[in-house]
Amino acid sequence: MYKAKVVGAGSYAPETVLTNRDLEKVVDTSDAWITRRTGIKERRIATGGMVTSEMAARAARQALEKSGVEAGDLDLVVVGTVTPDRQFPSCACLLQEKIGARKAASMDVSAGCSGFIYALSVANNAIRCGDAEHALVVGAEVLSGVTNWSDRGTCVLLGDGAGAVVLSRTDEDTGIKAVNLRSDGSFGHLLYSVDKQCELPTLDIVPGVGEQRPFYLVMDGKPLFKKAVECLEEITRWTLDKAQVKVEELALMVPHQANIRIINALAQRLGLAEEKVYTTIERYGNTSSASIPIALAEAVNAGRLCPRDKLLMVTFGAGLTWGASLVEWSI
Ligand code: UT7
Repeated sequence: MYKAKVVGAGSYAPETVLTNRDLEKVVDTSDAWITRRTGIKERRIATGGMVTSEMAARAARQALEKSGVEAGDLDLVVVGTVTPDRQFPSCACLLQEKIGARKAASMDVSAGCSGFIYALSVANNAIRCGDAEHALVVGAEVLSGVTNWSDRGTCVLLGDGAGAVVLSRTDEDTGIKAVNLRSDGSFGHLLYSVDKQCELPTLDIVPGVGEQRPFYLVMDGKPLFKKAVECLEEITRWTLDKAQVKVEELALMVPHQANIRIINALAQRLGLAEEKVYTTIERYGNTSSASIPIALAEAVNAGRLCPRDKLLMVTFGAGLTWGASLVEWSI
């Protein structure tokens, strides 16, 4: 059986920055509360009609350039997103057209904040079984367009962005060593969309944001926090076991960026040193499916991964869904 390895990573974050101080003008909150309870200082907001597929295309072009793979050589494009431009065509098909991935099959994966790891699993399996030689895996979200800007429990958490990786087939004993996925629909009520037109405020300090809201997001944060820590630990241990890697052998963990206290609790339970955990939450907030590939691309650019390093990516989100991947880095 073939293996898949990551050959390039890229990311895109919109230019408009929304700080905690800006949000003090929107809801009854404070920079101190947001920083202490979440670790977030600012987030990026898509403006001027920037849609998910366009951000995905910008991240994808960067990943393709780094990889040396041509868009026309991609066999598969998989996008994890809960905020596609429209119901159909899929965001992946819109992205395929934008980057010129003419011979690819393209699809979206809906798995809440776990979208990127779920998409990675689809692409990994396609390569392993020989159906694909090169695949593009993307996580991209415009969460500002589905945020209830009057709910201080959620609006301070979310941000927009996109990240992408290119996977290629390899015969070497390296690359993706394990991908594990889980879900539990019985906890769906903790994080869900209200899918109807409703009268909610727009984000007046950034013109245009929230004007066309196909749905809005509702979250019960406290129980979700508890489930997140439990599930992240469980899937991490399972994935390390499957890949036969010990915690102390990890070079880097790139977790989903939902709350710095969740990330710290996971690292503490695993006994993983703080310097081995890559975080971007202070600058981008929670970008759902995009958070892991954005952080990964930045970690690679910052020289945080060397060939043979063991990388763990782990996520948790609406569904509930959760998942993890252990990768032996090879570029
Ligand atoms: O990405 C997918 C998965 N997402 C998650 O896993 C998120 C999990 N949950 C969380 O990250 C946290 O639960 C939150 C950040 C959402 C909330 O933090 P918390 O420490 O659990 O706060 P809480 O909901 O228990 O609220 C504590 C207090 C409440 O006031 P009272 O009742 O104690 O007077 C809230 O009303 O903080 C209040 N509060 C706020 N105060 C200022 C809630 N949101 C805010 C806010 N600013 N933005």
